[in-house]
Amino acid sequence: MNNKIPVGVLGATGTVGQRFVQLLENHPWFEVATVTGSERTVGRPYADGVNWKINGDIPDGAANLIVQPTEPNLGISGTSPIVFSALPTAEAREWEPQFAAAGYAVVTNASAFRMTPDVPLLIPEVNPTHTELIPTQQANNNWSGFIVASPNCSTTSVILPLKVWQEAFGLEAALMTTMQAISGAGFPGVSSMDILDNVVPYIGGEDGKLENEPKKLLGTVTDGALALADIRASAQANRVPVFDGHLASVSVKLGQKASVAEAIAALETWQPPAVCAELPSAPERPLIYRHEPDRPQPRLDRDSEDGLAWTVGKVRQCGVLDLRFMSITHNTLRGAASGSILNAELLVAQGFIKR
Ligand SMILES: NC(=O)c1ccc[n+]([C@@H]2O[C@H](COP(=O)([O-])OP(=O)(O)OC[C@H]3O[C@@H](n4cnc5c(N)ncnc54)[C@H](OP(=O)(O)O)[C@@H]3O)[C@@H](O)[C@H]2O)c1
Repeated sequence: MNNKIPVGVLGATGTVGQRFVQLLENHPWFEVATVTGSERTVGRPYADGVNWKINGDIPDGAANLIVQPTEPNLGISGTSPIVFSALPTAEAREWEPQFAAAGYAVVTNASAFRMTPDVPLLIPEVNPTHTELIPTQQANNNWSGFIVASPNCSTTSVILPLKVWQEAFGLEAALMTTMQAISGAGFPGVSSMDILDNVVPYIGGEDGKLENEPKKLLGTVTDGALALADIRASAQANRVPVFDGHLASVSVKLGQKASVAEAIAALETWQPPAVCAELPSAPERPLIYRHEPDRPQPRLDRDSEDGLAWTVGKVRQCGVLDLRFMSITHNTLRGAASGSILNAELLVAQGFIKR
């Protein structure tokens, strides 16, 4: 295993799990040691059980791993065992606390504990200091491990421009409409009869996640306790016939007035927190502003910076609130697996996971 940290991927055969397996193949710090699945795949070689739906081949290192049951006795050695969780919500609710109790760092994409007050809802570029909640969480539960969550992929698509303007001008309210890709629904997801030649204006639970999660991400942690940001939010999520990439249309009310030029300048001059420079997967340009009148677009912009960039455009005055903009992120990369890998890198950089 050389000196990389061995990790497990829970729900490794699914849409997000496959991305974890692919992205971790040549990771400088982490190496996939074990993969788990449901009864459907347990006991089979990964390559045999997985329904591989993404570009490229199944990594050699994972192909012959035997899919294990999702239980916290994965046999991962090392002082800080890590599991990346791509479990469905109900399974995450059952198993993630058991892994944390058994000493694992659980870095999850699932929604089960995102809004739990002592669980950091984390994006390194947005709120890296929220990991200060970890000791509180461990004390509250008497756990030696912990859970850290990535936000919903639709929340991710809007959050960095909101963060930049919150810092620069204050942020009081946001109206958000998303156009979300079909890969966000997992496999097999929405049936082709429902989504081709159509838009489905309903994604179960999504409007509420998009209204609540930004308040946590943009909140503050003081003395190990979280205070939510006081932002009014209204969201409408739509499923559109695009394979990858969630596009969002947002109008905001700011704390103080800003011109379009000032708002664009704030986005273009924003720099990520210093700790991001220590993270091997961190993109060089996390926030790209495009001046073309017809950008961002899913097909043209979702893969920027290996799928880790926010691409923002069309900042204009809003006739109802103050400003409006469009933003996009890749939902299974920045919005899921790549985002969680960055979170794990942050936990290593901050010493919560020992190398
Ligand atoms: N897709 C996205 O863009 C996205 C973005 C952000 C967050 N998420 C979240 O990430 C999680 C995974 O989503 P997904 O889109 O990858 O779903 P998915 O394609 O449906 O995959 C689900 C995975 O969970 C496994 N699984 C199901 N029941 C299980 C059980 N009882 N025990 C162990 N494993 C079990 C499946 O294993 P088998 O194949 O063996 O049945 C499969 O690997 C969800 O919580 C989702 O909300 C998804």
